[in-house]
Amino acid sequence: MHSHLIPGIDDGVKTVEEAFHVIDQLLGLGYTKLITTPHIMTDYYGNTGTSVSAAYQDFLPHLESKGYSRILECAAEYYMDDTLVELVSRKEPLLTFGTKHILFETNVISEPLNLKEFIFALTLQGYKPIMAHPERYQFMSVDKAEDLRNRGVLMQINMLSLIGYYGPPIQRMAEKLIQHGLVDALGSDCHNGDHALVLKNVLRTSAYRKAMELPLLNHTL
Ligand SMILES: [Fe+2]
Repeated sequence: MHSHLIPGIDDGVKTVEEAFHVIDQLLGLGYTKLITTPHIMTDYYGNTGTSVSAAYQDFLPHLESKGYSRILECAAEYYMDDTLVELVSRKEPLLTFGTKHILFETNVISEPLNLKEFIFALTLQGYKPIMAHPERYQFMSVDKAEDLRNRGVLMQINMLSLIGYYGPPIQRMAEKLIQHGLVDALGSDCHNGDHALVLKNVLRTSAYRKAMELPLLNHTL
């Protein structure tokens, strides 16, 4: 779960060929199903739930031609901005996967003032919010992650964090979250072939093995 594999609609793969190259790399690593999550962020890409679904529909015939239509499911990675808060308050339908799971991210610097309110509004509507890469937020701590989980948020760390791909502090936070049993899902956050290529290095880390002992959501999707 968590990748950017719909061609040309965000900062993920650019072409159908690139998408297939990356999907084949991931299948080679042992993935049997991929939930791709294009960015929906008002200030970038111009995506909406409708446009992402349309892009997926356009991509489907290509997937079918390779026999991959059942392998790749599509939802979204929502950036928590005013547009999203507004959509939630108006109870507009959002792109989800699993059983009403919704993947969201926030700005990396400071905790949004309305984060708890936003989470409450989501859970009240039966959504199961999943915070994308908690280890990458500068405001994150073990206590904060614990508090958010108590409020109904599931935590998805990026596998690449475990090899220090985003730097040592982010690696340390990811490891700490695993140690404290605060990780609910692993994501590749795969944007391109380079990401897919280094993913295999994650499998050798002890943090990855420890994470795999947790009751991860991945196995149920
Ligand atoms: Fe992402």
